Amino acid sequence: MRDDAPQIYLDYNATTPVHADVREAMLPWLGERWGNPSSGHSYGRAAAAAVAEARGEIAALIGAAPEEIFFTGGGTEADNLALFGSVPGPAHVLISAVEHPAVSATAEALGERGWTITSLPVAADGRVAVSEVEAILGEHARVDLLSVITAQNETGAIQPVAELAQLVRGRTPGAIVHSDGAQAVGKIPVDVGALGVDLLTVVSHKLYGPAGVGALYCRGELRLRPRLFGGGQERGLRPGTEPVALIVGFGAAAALARRTLAGEAARQEKLRELLWGRLAAKIPGIYRTIPAAHSLPNTLHVCLPGVRGPEVLARSPAVAASVGSACHSDQPVAVGVLGAMGLPPELAAGALRLSLGRGTDRDAIIRASDALVRGWRALTELN
Ligand SMILES: Cc1ncc(COP(=O)(O)O)c(C=O)c1O
Repeated sequence: MRDDAPQIYLDYNATTPVHADVREAMLPWLGERWGNPSSGHSYGRAAAAAVAEARGEIAALIGAAPEEIFFTGGGTEADNLALFGSVPGPAHVLISAVEHPAVSATAEALGERGWTITSLPVAADGRVAVSEVEAILGEHARVDLLSVITAQNETGAIQPVAELAQLVRGRTPGAIVHSDGAQAVGKIPVDVGALGVDLLTVVSHKLYGPAGVGALYCRGELRLRPRLFGGGQERGLRPGTEPVALIVGFGAAAALARRTLAGEAARQEKLRELLWGRLAAKIPGIYRTIPAAHSLPNTLHVCLPGVRGPEVLARSPAVAASVGSACHSDQPVAVGVLGAMGLPPELAAGALRLSLGRGTDRDAIIRASDALVRGWRALTELN
């Protein structure tokens, strides 16, 4: 491959390009249209109306009411607000063992402040083991907050959030349930009522909107405590002048997702299966980490035998993908998400996350699979 040839992008779980419709919606707000939504004059009123329209689009995508959507500076901030803002004082929090650091590191920070944090184990299929959760609940008098990711960012495993919410509320009726929906919203249907969550994180740059903006859904009557203090925007929960262009882009991305989600999910799932079939046919012993039945339709997580993921990618320069946090060279056990799933370290070392998106077509899958097979072969011939 020539150095200047564009790589085949299979890293849509890291971020997505801003869609042309989204860019078009944003552009006026980076040019001839401006205004502070808090201003009472026509400029301010126009900006406030644009923010309100975007809020409605995001609410519609997840089955919420517009007033239940609070804009934040992204997913990390929404997760922090959900955990820090929902329970006053030291409490008992359950999180899964496969949370994104935006939740797990926040929980760690709460632990340092005296909260009790319990990690829920996952099974070998990448999902929280519901049967084990019942035993864990039996060991604790109450649960104040449950936070379980809707779909895992590295593996694509869709978690049994609704089941867990029901189980935890059976034990503590008033328990608050949060889910980090960063990877799920826009890729699969997500409805806050069906999930049974009080709080849901939504991220613009994972669904073809701009980075730097996200939202926290907060169920009607629930009152969060702010982490920032200032001018009272977002009804005092997240003060600071709204980034109108980003919010408008986020709203356009949500509208696009709502219009096209079903078709895109089916199309990408088919391509994902083509990718898996081509890799499995040529790489004996390749391991598919998450069964298709509960995987995000765009994500294929695999472990290649006898090699290390970063070396495969280095030998496959045509492909832009990622490896995740599978294994550190100096540790005898798999770490991170794959370690939590109990994968043997030598298998986890060969991990690759291949995530497809709107720009992926059949030709890209054929070229990418050929390149990855060549990369794997080059390494195994060396060994
Ligand atoms: C599951 C999950 N949560 C949170 C985040 C953080 O979102 P942001 O980059 O908008 O802070 C990400 C982004 O990688 C993610 O995948």
